[in-house]
Amino acid sequence: MSDEAIKVPAESELPLSTAPTPMIDPFGRAVTYLRVSVTDRCDFRCVYCMAEDMTFLPKREVLSLEELDRLCSAFIAKGVRKLRLTGGEPLVRKNIMSLIRSLGRHIDTGALEELTLTTNGSQLARFANELYDCGVRRINVSIDTLDRDKFKAVTRWGDLDKVLDGIRAATKAGLKVKINMVALKGVNEHEIETMLKWCHENGHDLTMIETMPLGEIDGDRTDQYLPLSTVRARLSERFTLTDIPYKTGGPARYVTIEETGGRLGFITPLTHNFCESCNRVRVTCTGQLYMCLGQDDMADLRAPLRASEGNELLSDAIDEAIGRKPKGHDFVIDRKTRQPAVSRHMSVTGG
Ligand code: GTP
Ligand code: 5AD
Ligand code: SF4
Repeated sequence: MSDEAIKVPAESELPLSTAPTPMIDPFGRAVTYLRVSVTDRCDFRCVYCMAEDMTFLPKREVLSLEELDRLCSAFIAKGVRKLRLTGGEPLVRKNIMSLIRSLGRHIDTGALEELTLTTNGSQLARFANELYDCGVRRINVSIDTLDRDKFKAVTRWGDLDKVLDGIRAATKAGLKVKINMVALKGVNEHEIETMLKWCHENGHDLTMIETMPLGEIDGDRTDQYLPLSTVRARLSERFTLTDIPYKTGGPARYVTIEETGGRLGFITPLTHNFCESCNRVRVTCTGQLYMCLGQDDMADLRAPLRASEGNELLSDAIDEAIGRKPKGHDFVIDRKTRQPAVSRHMSVTGG
């Protein structure tokens, strides 16, 4: 099947979307958030995410846009209320807007509460207006530093000015932009205050993320790892942080910063595990369903998807997989643990 255009199934072929009962995992957690990596390719090579000479999947292995639409719609029919497209970089996939436009119909019907993406921002200037038009209201953009040279060093191939232009275009288009910043020791640890002020002056929430040990990268992760407990303690010396119950469906725990008047989120898989409230699963662009970011177990959904035109086999395969969603991850970053927790790179599941 080509990526040229996407044919939306007739309403009668669509799975029922009237308030389905959510899928419940063995630990009683409702799975309502699906993250879909639409491509493993990326136009950047962030040092904590990929090696510079990555080999990507051959195109024939990858689900067509039509298949991705069917897959997402099947999950929505099973109670998923929040859908996030990731990558690699989602906006480098050819004709990606036709998938987003098509998925936007679930926002129109109310079956989906949120359709969103996590992007490196490089293509945003081109797509911002169309994203809004498709029902996207909020996006997350990754920026680890506002220093041009350092940005180049971290992303290897990225251009900060292009990303900033993209963010401006997104804001102008009416999209709320949240900035993701991976905390990297010795790289951006002294820029957190600058980033915080910039974000809040420009109306963006900021979330900081602890680097996670996924896939072999060039270099030692112990050198990069900066616990957010340290960051929080340092920030508390200069700012007034107040915990707030604000939630976006993701793993961040938020505080407000009195001095800048904005929100800061902490994503702390290493120092403060949040698996007990996990509400999400992820699908790769080849149709593999990962029930946990930090575990290797997965279920192949491509075979049942392709085996029949109806969604029964697919739906059964999803149920079976949710039935073995693990309790949580076993991430550790220390000098003794040299192996990454899982061998796949972050770009396979998009975080
Ligand atoms: P919001 O909708 O804004 O809450 O976004 P989000 O945090 O769910 O998504 P985003 O793509 O911005 O992810 C931010 C970071 O959180 C990335 O580094 C993800 O890898 C990480 N993350 C998201 N879900 C999980 C999870 O289940 N486990 C772990 N360990 N990390 C996660
Ligand atoms: N650890 C933590 N976050 C990571 N990201 C990419 N690789 C890693 C890693 N090893 C972040 C990106 C993006 C989000 C989807 O995941 O910066 O914001
Ligand atoms: Fe690309 Fe995102 Fe990985 Fe950076 S973190 S290389 S932008 S997929």
